[in-house]
Amino acid sequence: MRVCVVGSGGREHALAHVLGRSAEVVVTPGNPGIPGSVGTPPTEVDADLYVIGPEAPLVAGLADELRAAGRLVLGPGADGARLEGSKAWMKEVVASAGVPTARHRTFDEVGPAVEYLRTLPGPWVVKTDGLAAGKGVLVATDLDEAIADVEAKLSGRSFGDAGRRVVIEEGMSGPELSVLAVCDGTRAVPLAPAQDFKRVGDGDTGPNTGGMGAYSPVPAADEAVVAQVMERCIEPTLAELRRRGIDYRGVLYAGLMLTDEGPKLVEFNVRFGDPEAQVVLPRMTSDLAELLAAAAAGDLTAAPAPTFGDDACVTVVLASEGYPGTPRTGDVIEGIEAAEATGATIFCAGVARDETGRLVTAGGRVLNVVGHGPTVAAAREHAYRAADLISWPGMHRRSDIAKEVAHR
Ligand code: AMP
Ligand code: GLY
Repeated sequence: MRVCVVGSGGREHALAHVLGRSAEVVVTPGNPGIPGSVGTPPTEVDADLYVIGPEAPLVAGLADELRAAGRLVLGPGADGARLEGSKAWMKEVVASAGVPTARHRTFDEVGPAVEYLRTLPGPWVVKTDGLAAGKGVLVATDLDEAIADVEAKLSGRSFGDAGRRVVIEEGMSGPELSVLAVCDGTRAVPLAPAQDFKRVGDGDTGPNTGGMGAYSPVPAADEAVVAQVMERCIEPTLAELRRRGIDYRGVLYAGLMLTDEGPKLVEFNVRFGDPEAQVVLPRMTSDLAELLAAAAAGDLTAAPAPTFGDDACVTVVLASEGYPGTPRTGDVIEGIEAAEATGATIFCAGVARDETGRLVTAGGRVLNVVGHGPTVAAAREHAYRAADLISWPGMHRRSDIAKEVAHR
């Protein structure tokens, strides 16, 4: 089988790496750190299966375009991708489906939004309706900060058009969990759960990012928790989408909070998580290409259910100075080979080559260092041992990825 992976980040590198165990893989546009990267646009790549990594092309309808040309695609059409493209629409769908989630309302104007904020006990959560690369959410413990954020978003100042509509919701608390399910339009199967670290700083401080690290498995998420998430969140949503005439073939990623009242939905993404994919996919012991092809063809029963090893993976994201704001770029990256020599897996995201062929930084999240081990503690130790060998001017990373679970 020849698989075309669309995208250019660490998630796509992980997809290519694991799909490459059983398939021939090309990545478009990829990056200079991902083997098999090609310059050809996806519509001109000849493949048996197309796997679309990022949300933006899904929301823009790339899956529809490829399907219209008769191709087999893993990734929802623009209709299903609205689950991620519009938080307001997502909330409406999950309300119809009866999925447990935070109390919320949607606003286009400052006055009523502020009035609603004042009725909530706090912490206050303000989200852009549209896509904002994981950065459009403010969780505030200060009401004035929430009000200022609503004004900045609705005026278009902070996130352009993506923020001209906002969803305001009550704050929930509890450990977070990512459950990714592969869907064939009717059925869904879960992958191993992961936990992601969204804030830029140690101790979950500072602004939200696309994700600064992750680990899998998650001891707090046993089979019963995953079954609950499938029954209460994934399956009802898939059924609701079907009811609305949407044939959802792709990954449905539930971002959850494990509250005192059970798992509650924080968000849906319509693709593999980044950096969750980097710790979930390497643990797979069944054939990923076969699974995704079956889902794309609308019949998951044609592939064996996904299985995972007992080993653990921890990834630490190495980021450029300035991220999640405007990153500094063009710095030479040192130490990748030494890190790989420890047995760690390095997935490349924001990288380029300079005129002399050296790998340099070219984005905010630059590398994912993945450590492996029999336990999360061992994988964590491995990830940091390898990450310590990589550097460039201004590089930053969190030092507490998976720390709590490793010490439990
Ligand atoms: P989202 O983009 O919707 O996943 O939100 C990004 C992050 O903001 C989540 O991973 C949570 O850490 C946090 N967050 C979102 N919604 C809530 C909420 N209702 N209560 C508490 N934290 C939240
Ligand atoms: N890790 C969060 C995301 O992929 O959106």
